[in-house]
Amino acid sequence: MTAQLIDGKLIAQQVRDEVAAKVAKRTAAGKSQPTLATVLVGERVDSATYVRSKGKACEELGMGSVSHNLPADISQAELEKVIMSLNADKSVHGILVQLPLPSHLDEERVLQLISIEKDVDGFSPLNIGRLAQKGREPLFVPCTPYGCIYLLEKVGVKIEGSNAVVLGRSNIVGMPAALLLIGKNATVTVCHSRTKDIAAVVREADILIAAIGKTEFVRGDWIKPGAAVIDVGINSKPDATKKSGYRLVGDVHFDEAKEVAGFITPVPGGVGPMTIAMLMNNTYRAAEIQDK
Ligand code: GUN
Repeated sequence: MTAQLIDGKLIAQQVRDEVAAKVAKRTAAGKSQPTLATVLVGERVDSATYVRSKGKACEELGMGSVSHNLPADISQAELEKVIMSLNADKSVHGILVQLPLPSHLDEERVLQLISIEKDVDGFSPLNIGRLAQKGREPLFVPCTPYGCIYLLEKVGVKIEGSNAVVLGRSNIVGMPAALLLIGKNATVTVCHSRTKDIAAVVREADILIAAIGKTEFVRGDWIKPGAAVIDVGINSKPDATKKSGYRLVGDVHFDEAKEVAGFITPVPGGVGPMTIAMLMNNTYRAAEIQDK
């Protein structure tokens, strides 16, 4: 292995420790306990697991959490009422609507309704709009891309002037990751399902962020020697040696890529833990913003 492993679990724990210390200081000063409200619609197992982890992280860091678990057939009007009441609730500092929503619901309208000061996921059009514009600052940056950039900066990868390639253009990861990299003066190429010869594009990348949800899609011979590889994918791959019958792998073929890359994140234990750590930091900041 030539690549330096980026230990997301360790770095996420450091972020969490810092947030916990800031929360303790804040509450000791008599200020309100930063509190996150999660909204889960329906019973998707993956979404329910993520939401539970977010609530648990709040507890571990001394923050408050309230969860709204709503039925899959809730109407748009009822869901909007829940969001409006959370916007008005002074004891709630952050609102997180777990995505995806069931298809009968209008996600765009729901996200637009969240007060910008409580938009700890950074998905409201106001936050994303500011992220996309020069000289403007969003109040909150989406947690997974924020975690990716944090990892790169933490291990000392130079973003400015680099060629960065983002695989995937989702609202949750690919697009905001590309905007963040542009904001940090990288030259960014976004690849997607219609991109011709993705391998050739990836070969030019000093920084690669892979977020397309395809098992081990990126092969070792696509990686530029010394490149920093951030793997956002979480895919299950059949594995008879495991009790569960599968194991988690990324969008990058780790065993091949680690022989070529300069830095690489593992799956699991890379980007995954960073998402919640950044959410906790955003929730703490939301409370600070709302004091003013
Ligand atoms: N679904 C997958 N990732 C995320 C995330 O970071 N936030 C929300 N709200 N939903 C998600």
